[in-house]
Amino acid sequence: MRHFLNLADAGGNAVAAMLGDAIDRKAARAGLPKGCADPDAPLAGRVLAMVFEKSSTRTRVSFDIAIRQLGGTAVVLDSGTTQLGRGETVADTARVLSRMADAIMMRTHDHAKIEELAHHASVPVINGLTDLSHPCQIMADLQTVLEHGKALPGLEVAWLGDGNNVLNSIVEAAGLMKFNVRIGVPQGYESDSGMIALAEAAGARISLHRDAQSAVAGADVVVTDTWISMGQAHVSEKLAAMAPFQVNEALMAQARPDALFLHCLPAHRGEEVTEGVIDGRQSAVWDEAENRIHAQKSVLRWVFGQI
Ligand code: CP
Ligand code: NVA
Repeated sequence: MRHFLNLADAGGNAVAAMLGDAIDRKAARAGLPKGCADPDAPLAGRVLAMVFEKSSTRTRVSFDIAIRQLGGTAVVLDSGTTQLGRGETVADTARVLSRMADAIMMRTHDHAKIEELAHHASVPVINGLTDLSHPCQIMADLQTVLEHGKALPGLEVAWLGDGNNVLNSIVEAAGLMKFNVRIGVPQGYESDSGMIALAEAAGARISLHRDAQSAVAGADVVVTDTWISMGQAHVSEKLAAMAPFQVNEALMAQARPDALFLHCLPAHRGEEVTEGVIDGRQSAVWDEAENRIHAQKSVLRWVFGQI
C-alpha cells in the first residue's frame, strides 16, 4: 500500500521519477481539451474520493481534472455536509471510503488525522494539505522550477514570511532532492524543527535568517505564502512581525536576475507579496498553479504502483 502523506513516503528517486513523468505527460497532451483523457487512460475506472475539511480551489479542481485525464473519476466530500463533520469517526470513514473508492485524498487540520485515515484505509491516501505539510504543492513547485530550466541539486531557494506547512514540505524536498533553503522568518514563526533536522541530515543546507535581504541574496527561487494560514486567527501582532518579510520589487532585486518567484496561492497582494512581483516578469505562479494537475497525475500514478 502506497500512501502519499509526505514526500518522504515516496523518497527522492520516486519524486524524481514522478517529476519526469509529469513533465512528459504534460507535453504529450499539449493542445488537448482539458477534460479529455490521455490516450492511454492509465487509471481508467478508478475512483478518487476527496475529503475537504478546509477550503480549496486549486487542490479540488486539479485533482478532479487530474483523475479525469487519467481516465478515472472523482467524488468530492465537504466535511460540512458529511457524517465525518457530524462526528463519525475517521476510522469508520476510512473503512467505508475504502469499499467505495480506489484512493482517498484528504485536506484537514491536524496531520495526525490523515495518518489515522491512512492507518484504517485499505486504499492509498494522499495528503491534500494538513497543518504540517503540503507535499502535492511542492511536487508542482519542483516541476515548475525544472520547466524553467533550473536543476534541483544545489538550487538556492529563499522562503520569506511564515514558517508554515508549505515551507515544511519545501524543507523536506530539499533533503530528498539536494537543494538548499534560506528561511527568512521572524522570531517565533519558525517551521518544523524535525523536518529541518531530517533535511540537514540528508545533506541539504538549511539556514535561518532574521532579515529578508540576507535570505534572498543570490537566490535562484524566491517563495512566499499567506501570513495567515487556514485555521489560524488574524492577529495584528503576527501581521506586524511579518511585514519586513514582504516580497516586493526591492527585495526581489536582491535575488539572482533570473530568479523565479513562486507562491502556492491564494495570494494577498500588498501583504506577503506586492502586485509588481506576483504579476511581474519573474513570477511563475500561473505555471505553478497549472502544474498542480500534472504533478498530481504522477502522484496518483505512483500510489497506484504505475511509477
Ligand atoms: N495552493 C493550494 O493548495 O490552493 P487551494 O487552497 O486553492 O487548494
Ligand atoms: N499555508 C496555506 C496554504 C494554502 C494553500 C494554508 O495552510 O492555508
